[in-house]
Amino acid sequence: MTMNQSVNALLSINDIRAMKRDGEKITCLTAYDASFAALLDRSGIDVLLVGDSLGMVVQGHRTTIPVSIADMLYHTRCVNHARERAFLIADLPFMSYSNPIDAAKNAALLLQQGGAQMVKLEGARLDCIRFLVEQKIPVCGHLGLLPQSIHQLGGYQVQGKEPDVAQKIREDAQLLQESGATMLILECVPAALAKQISNELIIPVIGIGAGVDCDGQVLVLYDMLGISFGKRPRFSKNFLLGEDSIESAIHAYRKAVKNAEFPAPEHCY
Ligand code: KIV
Repeated sequence: MTMNQSVNALLSINDIRAMKRDGEKITCLTAYDASFAALLDRSGIDVLLVGDSLGMVVQGHRTTIPVSIADMLYHTRCVNHARERAFLIADLPFMSYSNPIDAAKNAALLLQQGGAQMVKLEGARLDCIRFLVEQKIPVCGHLGLLPQSIHQLGGYQVQGKEPDVAQKIREDAQLLQESGATMLILECVPAALAKQISNELIIPVIGIGAGVDCDGQVLVLYDMLGISFGKRPRFSKNFLLGEDSIESAIHAYRKAVKNAEFPAPEHCY
């Protein structure tokens, strides 16, 4: 077994939990290939997320909906080969968890063949979460803006501005934790709501467009390097501006998150 394959060198879910307990902010970025994964890993990014955002930033689709489990497996493997420390989460893509059995089969592929340590799925899919956890598959929930529901939502908008919707997101977050999810991503929700949820839950809450009081932050890598096409989301920041290399941009992101300097008020709702 080489150093690269040693499981002991990798951060575990216990290390991520300890960061929340000790008040250390968790840094997360999306990764889709080996070169970027190696760079993020050696820059000390704690969590790599193979997001189905790859459908947009790598494959050029308008949404994440066309991404398949084969795509996710391919990119998860690429990222896994290159990491030596970071915790690895892979997204279950659209319709790959329409029932618990499919969820378990597809999640097993990402863990067994892809090398992921956890899978992420969108929405309060408690039936799937419970079943995956029974099969010993760690799950990260995802609430707020759900990109796989984009055609139902009608657009990429902030979620939870109205009190009844905010309350539903809060209740869903509790239910997810009770169903066995070990991490939660909150996307595009008001900062005050994300703060409340992060304080109420024991599990680590990672925000994207959810304010500085989450336990950690995630961004789409190509957004934070300013190379995504289309409009940059308000909650993102081009960390390459003012830096002379991609590596220093990643270090700047890590430092800003660890010191709770990012997101600033202008990135929040
Ligand atoms: O797919 C993705 O990149 C994600 C992040 C936006 C959290 O789910």
